[in-house]
Amino acid sequence: MKTVAVKTGRPYEILIEHNILDRTGEFVRPLTKAIRAVIVSDTNVAPIYADRVKNSLEQNGFETSVFVFEAGESSKRLSTIEKMYTHFFEHNLTRTDIIIALGGGVTGDMAGFAAATYLRGIDFVQIPTSLLAQVDSSVGGKTAVDLPTGKNLVGAFWQPILVLIDPETLHTLPEAFFRDGLGEVVKYGCIRSLPLFERLEKENAKDLIDDIIYECVSIKRDVVEHDERDTGERAILNFGHTLGHALEKLHHYTGLTHGEAVSAGAAMITRISENHGMTAKGSAERLENLLKKYGLPTDTDFALSEIVTATRGDKKSTGKSINFIFLSEIGKCYIKKINTQDFGKFFGV
Ligand SMILES: NC(=O)c1ccc[n+]([C@@H]2O[C@H](COP(=O)([O-])OP(=O)(O)OC[C@H]3O[C@@H](n4cnc5c(N)ncnc54)[C@H](O)[C@@H]3O)[C@@H](O)[C@H]2O)c1
Ligand SMILES: [Zn+2]
Repeated sequence: MKTVAVKTGRPYEILIEHNILDRTGEFVRPLTKAIRAVIVSDTNVAPIYADRVKNSLEQNGFETSVFVFEAGESSKRLSTIEKMYTHFFEHNLTRTDIIIALGGGVTGDMAGFAAATYLRGIDFVQIPTSLLAQVDSSVGGKTAVDLPTGKNLVGAFWQPILVLIDPETLHTLPEAFFRDGLGEVVKYGCIRSLPLFERLEKENAKDLIDDIIYECVSIKRDVVEHDERDTGERAILNFGHTLGHALEKLHHYTGLTHGEAVSAGAAMITRISENHGMTAKGSAERLENLLKKYGLPTDTDFALSEIVTATRGDKKSTGKSINFIFLSEIGKCYIKKINTQDFGKFFGV
């Protein structure tokens, strides 16, 4: 078993082990006095995995119930949270009880948000089952739901008490979602780890998945420990995301997935920064080749002028400027503020 300790305000551990689902109760029991545990999961994941988690919790003395919502980003809203609260109330969940998020990033973000707010906050455990959730969203304590006007606009910082990662669950993850998660994996290599990037180049990601998860989670842990509330360094995790978010918006959040948008955004910003002499020569081509190897996009049909216009409305915008993340070289990055007035010159539009 691999273990990563996260020393945030409220410290917790991430345990990575094949078939750890069947040992959920064993690892949760020492951390809580809870009598009841509600498993939150979606309509794809619950039929495959909920019983295993439930049985393990019950073997360790928990009374359990399962709340299942319709799979997909469109469920990530307050109306689903309200249904969740009703389920918690009807199952007599108290402040000392516990919520278990079993699923992808949508499940983790929502179950985490419900945990942060129900009875002013109760404990929760993350059991991420998508690659994106295993390498990214389950670590760091950001929880949220979407509003009709935009993604992740309502949320809370709420750390889990434990994260259990079972790489075996990736065998049932649809290929498109696996590729999506790889977009974020490549991001970690770009911003912090040339060795990870090189392994992704030389080997096949599927053959190194345990190492990949461990490496990505460790990077995210390091960043989050330094900047739990996302006021500084944590912004580096947004490499590729500013242009990526603009692309998602232009696609009306359909067709292009988040990981694909981040990939295209990362490739585009790196080409531009390399042209400005802000990134070591050859980085953009190397990044493009790696993304292509894993079937990820490196460009878009939208005109740069449209993307730049969409970028001006990005959530991460702080008034008149936007923080962009640039690679100095593969494996190293820096944050640079760019004034929206200078966008024309910078992006050449
Ligand atoms: N909190 C954070 O820090 C953070 C970071 C990145 C992304 N996110 C959020 O994460 C969400 C995206 O996460 P996601 O891509 O995991 O979405 P998701 O939860 O919708 O999962 C993707 C799809 O895969 C299915 N699935 C998941 N695991 C499976 C498995 N093992 N077997 C079969 N099917 C499985 C799901 O049912 C869903 O259909 C977005 O809402 C995004 O905003 C949050
Ligand atoms: Zn992302």
